Amino acid sequence: MATFKTLDDFDFAGKRVLVRADLNVPVADGQVTDATRIERLIPTLREIIKVDGKAILLSHFGRPKGKVDPEFSLEQVIPAFVELLGHPVGFIATDWVEVDRVREAIDEAPAGSVLVLENTRFHPGEEKNDADLAARMASLGDIYVNDAFSAAHRAHASTEAVARLLPSAAGRAMADELQALEKGLGNPQRPVIAIVGGAKVSTKLDLLGNLLDKVEALVIGGAMANTFLHAGGLGVGRSLAEKDLAETANTIRDRAEDARCAIILPIDATVAWHFEANAPHRYYGVDAMDPDGMILDIGPGSIERVKAAIDEAKTVVWNGPLGAFEMTPFDQGTVEIAKYVAARTKAGKVVSVAGGGDTVAALAHAGVKDQFTYVSTAGGAFLEWMEGKSLPGVEALKS
Ligand code: 3PG
Ligand code: MG
Repeated sequence: MATFKTLDDFDFAGKRVLVRADLNVPVADGQVTDATRIERLIPTLREIIKVDGKAILLSHFGRPKGKVDPEFSLEQVIPAFVELLGHPVGFIATDWVEVDRVREAIDEAPAGSVLVLENTRFHPGEEKNDADLAARMASLGDIYVNDAFSAAHRAHASTEAVARLLPSAAGRAMADELQALEKGLGNPQRPVIAIVGGAKVSTKLDLLGNLLDKVEALVIGGAMANTFLHAGGLGVGRSLAEKDLAETANTIRDRAEDARCAIILPIDATVAWHFEANAPHRYYGVDAMDPDGMILDIGPGSIERVKAAIDEAKTVVWNGPLGAFEMTPFDQGTVEIAKYVAARTKAGKVVSVAGGGDTVAALAHAGVKDQFTYVSTAGGAFLEWMEGKSLPGVEALKS
């Protein structure tokens, strides 16, 4: 699979190594609330500084839309970074127009330094994959390492154009991620079961379409399942559902049948009358829904049904929660299935790969984030990869 170079192909001694990182971590009240993306960078950084290379980090943070905006300064992630790396981390401010001063600061820094450069999206050229900006970036390093799988779906100057200007490699986290995805869907042990949840079918059409041809069974949960239930002629009461997508949902079911992919929909549901935590709730069969109720989770019968399907599988890929997992007790389906997949993984029965948006938060909530074979830190990039799309940031690393 690996047609790109890795850290093993380079000697970083005395080199300036531009590392594309994804420091786009959640921050609340000036504190990094989930540092997973920073943690995953550490192995690559250690390898560079161990031999007295300089690690120079490029990253975006938020969406400042091409303007310098202190609210989106990467300086705010430095304390969390220092703590995790256990090594000083320097910060270099720049508007990315003028980089001579940046180059001087890099040259003056001692061998083995780790330096974070200001938000690449402070310059409008970043998101335009601008060649001049990429050339300015390239002038700051001797080698380019991309360790930001979660930004690889973007063809931006720091993820795409710059990779073509310098000798390039995938970092350890990037290589691990690609290897895990290959095990999950590229070249998996069969049968493969995909679990797809989330609110909207409309955002996951490409995903469902691609999975049908690649997996033996597809579990659909979350509010998107309601769209399928409605399309199948069942009442969904006041549940969230995209009723205008009924025809699309039925086409997906027909295509799945042709592809011999079993679609597993909820057979029962946890129903409440108010959308709030601990709202009074009851279980209903999907053929006997209360017209005033709202489906907020898959029901106990569905949980057993999904577990039985997981028993048949050798590989599990997961994207999206199965219910309103942010609110008890509507987290039950997601939590029980997450724990079950974790237990099957631990028992050596399945390879489990999860990622995308709310999925990591849901697995963390279930307490099993570290018990899957691999949990991606990527949102959009994981989804696009599961949709079968090629990722510009990965393509640019291939020779
Ligand atoms: C992410 O958080 O998904 C990545 O950092 C990419 O961010 P973006 O969606 O703003 O491009
Ligand atoms: Mg995103």
